[in-house]
Amino acid sequence: MKRNILITGGAGFIGSHVVRLFVNKYPDYHIVNLDKLTYAGNLANLKDIEDKPNYTFVRADIADLEEMRRVISEYKIDGIIHLAAESHVDRSIKDPFTFARTNVMGTLALLQAAKEYWESLPEKYEGKRFYHISTDEVYGALELTAPEGIESPFTTAASSAEHHHAYGEEFFLETTKYNPHSPYSASKASSDHFVRSYHDTYGMPTIVTNCSNNYGPYQFPEKLIPLFINNIRHRKPLPVYGKGENVRDWLFVEDHARAIDLIFHEGKNAETYNIGGFNEWKNIDIIKVVIKTVDRLLGNPEGHSLDLITYVTDRAGHDLRYAIDSRKLQRELGWEPSLQFEEGIERTVRWYLDNQEWMDNITSGEYEKYYDDMYSNR
Ligand code: NAD
Ligand code: TYD
Repeated sequence: MKRNILITGGAGFIGSHVVRLFVNKYPDYHIVNLDKLTYAGNLANLKDIEDKPNYTFVRADIADLEEMRRVISEYKIDGIIHLAAESHVDRSIKDPFTFARTNVMGTLALLQAAKEYWESLPEKYEGKRFYHISTDEVYGALELTAPEGIESPFTTAASSAEHHHAYGEEFFLETTKYNPHSPYSASKASSDHFVRSYHDTYGMPTIVTNCSNNYGPYQFPEKLIPLFINNIRHRKPLPVYGKGENVRDWLFVEDHARAIDLIFHEGKNAETYNIGGFNEWKNIDIIKVVIKTVDRLLGNPEGHSLDLITYVTDRAGHDLRYAIDSRKLQRELGWEPSLQFEEGIERTVRWYLDNQEWMDNITSGEYEKYYDDMYSNR
């Protein structure tokens, strides 16, 4: 079947994996990647598919309603996978307005432009889909009721082989009440509500998914794992917030992209699905795994880089524990992650060490200058 799919934020971390998967897997689909190319957008993430005939890149801001109207009608878009967002909690603490603008007003502009276009067609919403990608952070934070860790009651193929801990009895369910704490999660929560309101009010076919922390290739090196891999390589300090006791639930990015593909095609309208791999780690423990892996791959003696660990002032409002219960997705759509954590982290570290040019281009700021020149006439 021919389809015209708009993927927003496709030059970012997760978006680039989704674009790559769709362009390669669905030659009959026309994939339009719409991205503003903020500091977090990098077309080098898509070098391998940029010349494919079923791929188009558009540089635009999702908060620009006129531009969203133009793009959606020009490309006759019938499906939207919306990933574009400001995504880093620390930046949201310093600059909450940018988060409200892009994540809330941007999502609203996209919804409105899609609504106007789809309602103008004879078939209206038939065969259409607006799929919004969100985060587990909207649910707030869980208690650390088992600070030393207990055997996890649930596992998936992504769960660590050696460490299947849960740090509390509670998990986020699709029915968990929203309780965001950071400006980032507050803006994502707001956008989730707007998406659902377009279903409930106008009958737009929408889906929302809330995923746990992703890791893997092409993640911007302000986030924990790529930042620490790069710092270890340069023997720079590794800033651990607080005591390093906060717990995150980690999923390999390609498994998230596979879940998005499945849900986009087979998910039920108006539903919410949680996505996660039952793979909880305390920050300090995952940092030690990263150090061990980087040291081994660089040929350093074991423990060589442990001295780089530097405890720093905690993040304001730092959520203690995130843990996703993704059994609904497993049960209803048969999704299973494919990659166990040990293998995922090995692939991730190898990728960053093998792609130092990609990293150096970002840390030097070269990639941004290139886009400013390339798009200076727009
Ligand atoms: P990212 O920061 O790597 O990429 C975001 C992309 O959006 C960039 O390419 C950026 O240029 C683009 N963008 C930002 N503002 C824009 C605007 N106004 N108009 C158009 N494009 C704009 O983010 P990511 O980690 O890939 O996250 C993608 C989505 O997944 C986000 O919606 C995020 O909330 C969600 N999410 C992320 C994680 C995670 O662990 N990274 C987990 C769950 C959900
Ligand atoms: P991050 O990758 O920013 O993702 P999120 O805040 O969305 O979970 O951070 C992951 C965890 O690592 C989080 O608990 C904050 C912590 N962290 C540090 O301790 N030091 C750092 O330099 C960074 C970036 C994060």
